[in-house]
Amino acid sequence: MKKDVIIACDFASAEATYAFLDRFTEEKPFVKIGMELFYAAGPEIVREIKKRGHKIFLDLKLHDIPNTVKKAMAVLSNLDVDICNLHAAGGVDMMKAAIEGLTRPDGTRPLLIAVTMLTSIDQDRMEKELLIKGRLQDTVMQYAENAKNAGLDGVVCSPLESGLVHGRCGEGFLTVTPGIRFADGAQGDQQRVTTPARARELGSDFIVVGRPITAAEDPVAAYRRCMAEFAD
Ligand code: C5P
Repeated sequence: MKKDVIIACDFASAEATYAFLDRFTEEKPFVKIGMELFYAAGPEIVREIKKRGHKIFLDLKLHDIPNTVKKAMAVLSNLDVDICNLHAAGGVDMMKAAIEGLTRPDGTRPLLIAVTMLTSIDQDRMEKELLIKGRLQDTVMQYAENAKNAGLDGVVCSPLESGLVHGRCGEGFLTVTPGIRFADGAQGDQQRVTTPARARELGSDFIVVGRPITAAEDPVAAYRRCMAEFAD
């Protein structure tokens, strides 16, 4: 799979998203549509962005009983996105059901990746609030293995975990990694950040980049810089 930069289109409306994408006249970046934009603009935004020629990672992080997730995934598969996701915490049966739902009658389906442990959960919260004992990193690896065993294509994780995940689940198991910042850029609310070049060295397959591109004075130049450091 070719390495690529996915722009997190964390905008509140369809208009703001189209205005942003209109700035890209020469390339068609891979875009991530998350809950905010999907809930605000509905499935139509997915169809429109797809029609414009972009690849789409639909980041809705499903987490429910297997039957519900299967049926929801069947609906999402009709949107013809390239990557969907769910929470590995929903369990192996839920992840298997998700694949069944996502698979179209002709056998094709979008890639499906799992969120392991949210980066907003640290060791202390995991132990005290979720009552999960042991090291956070071991939980992340267990969830990644569960995802692999359920037949998923990869996980969302920190670039710092990409090597470990590949070691445990195989080089072909995708690591999609947010928490990316330019060496000379602002960190914002991200705690553990990595440059695009370092993410490449660490083995990430896709980097998800939001504000370093969307809030840049020249988003197209920022996107090109990411591509040059990470993918080209
Ligand atoms: O603006 P920024 O580059 O921090 O955006 C990162 C994107 O990746 C956001 O859409 C955020 O929700 C998402 N994300 C993340 N950390 C995770 C999972 C998703 O930052 N563990």
